[in-house]
Formats: sequence, C-alpha cells, structure tokens
Amino acid sequence: MISLVLRGAPLRVCVGALAVSALTFGAALAQNGPPRPLDVPYVPTPQNVVDTMLKVAGVSRRDFLIDLGCGDGRIPVTAATRFGTRGFGVDLNPVRVKEAKENAAKNKVQRLVDFVQGDLFETDISKATVISMYLLPSVNMKLRPFVLSLKPGTRIVSHDFDMGDWKADKVEKLDYKTVYFWIVPAKVAGTYAVKAGKQSFDLKLEQKFQEVTGTARIGGKDVAIANGKLVGADLSFDLTMPDGKVRKFEGNAWDLGKIGGKGWAARRI
Ligand SMILES: C[S@@+](CC[C@H](N)C(=O)[O-])C[C@H]1O[C@@H](n2cnc3c(N)ncnc32)[C@H](O)[C@@H]1O
Repeated sequence: MISLVLRGAPLRVCVGALAVSALTFGAALAQNGPPRPLDVPYVPTPQNVVDTMLKVAGVSRRDFLIDLGCGDGRIPVTAATRFGTRGFGVDLNPVRVKEAKENAAKNKVQRLVDFVQGDLFETDISKATVISMYLLPSVNMKLRPFVLSLKPGTRIVSHDFDMGDWKADKVEKLDYKTVYFWIVPAKVAGTYAVKAGKQSFDLKLEQKFQEVTGTARIGGKDVAIANGKLVGADLSFDLTMPDGKVRKFEGNAWDLGKIGGKGWAARRI
C-alpha cells in the first residue's frame, strides 16, 4: 500500500512525512530548547537534491545565500565548499545550529558561512541574492510577501513545495522530489508616459508576479502589448506601431517608477 501511495502521490507523501515528523519530534525538540514549537520539523534534504537546488538557482561565488530553516547547514555548506559562496543559515532549533556550525568547520568553510539561531520570520534576509528553503506549503505562503519584497532579481529555490499561484520560473523533477525556482520580479504595474524616438504614448501595465500584460494608447488606438516578460528587473514586450511594424521594447524597471532601455524611456504617471 505504501508503494502504491508513493507511486501515485509523491507530494502527499512528502507533506505527510513532514507532518508525522512534526508530531514525533515535537516533544524532543521542546526539550532541546527551541523557544517555541517549530513551524517545520527537521527532515534533511538529500544531497542529490541539494546539488540540484544549487544548479537550478545557478549559485556561484558571487552569491550570498540564506537558507531558511537550515537544519545541519548542508545547503550553505555545499554552496561554500563547491563554489565559494558566502551566506548564512538560520534555524529555530539550537541543536541544528550547533550541527551546522560543526558541518561548516568540518568542511573548512566557517569563514564563508555562518549559522544563527532564530526565527526565519524575524530574520533580515535583505542581503540575499539566493534564498533556499525546505519548509511546508503553508510556511512558504506565509513567507511569500517577504520574499516578493526582496530586491528584484533575487533567486528563490525551494525543495518540494511551491508558492501557490506565484508560478515557478523553473521546475525540476527528481524521482519523488521536486525543486522549484523563482526570480523575484520588479513591481511594474501602473500607467506610464513613454517616449520612444519620435513616438510618445501612454502605456498601462498589469502584472501577476512575473507575468506582464498591458495596453498602449498609440496613434489614437488601444494596442495590446505582446510577449510581455519580466525577469527580475528586466522587462521586455512587443508592440505593433502605427506603421504596422512590431517593435521590441527591452529595458529595466527601476525604483521610483522608471522603466527604460535603448531608445525608449518611461515614467509612471
Ligand atoms: C525540513 S528541515 C530543512 C533543513 C535544511 N534546510 C535542509 O534542506 O536540509 C526544516 C528546518 O526548519 C527549522 N525551522 C522550523 N521552523 C522554523 C522557524 N520558524 N524559523 C527557523 N527555522 C525553523 C527546523 O528546525 C528544521 O531544521
């Protein structure tokens, strides 16, 4: 029966395993001193999944990786060992933090990665270029607004659990495991005054996470943009101009409501 369930519903098995672990580990963890019950029990990510997470997120020595609920620190320690990535892990359970520090020392990467005891919801994650997590669907959803407020372009990688209707930019399947990857999109929704060479027009952009649609008021007509794409702060879309030619707009979305690229600039009105 177990193998049938495993074949039919790997995701349910993962959630179930974490939930059962939560109950059985709860009492033990309380004795070991977490200041409050854990939001997620300790279930380490298998090393092949750690490797895939780092690969999918394109982690390099230029990154600063933060693992939320770091367990024995294997994700930051692997990134530091393989790529020289700096970062830290946070865990509510001091036992895990001790193990993670020992793991870093064993791998001689203590100068690159640190581990702190704390609540992931109270941790300053603004320095991250990559966030990794193996939490639970409800915890991912609670975390989502914090993640979406990070700098556009910050990469997020999650073992097994998604973020609801924020579609992943990449999904990698491994046997019974899944790795999800997102890039934090800039906030571009609004109405803009655009200057593009001799053309001036208003552009209304709508946004659902990284998906962008919109309409330009151009040559007295409403023209829908096509192929709207937002990757971090990189925005691109196509627009059919009054001469019937399709023009590609590629640019960057900055804070303060400005978007622009080669040959065009827009400001929010
Ligand atoms: C499923 S384990 C993942 C461990 C590690 N990231 C990995 O992938 O191997 C989740 C971890 O989150 C920690 N945790 C649970 N609730 C937390 C919270 N509110 N803040 C920080 N850590 C938490 C647990 O102690 C546990 O080590």
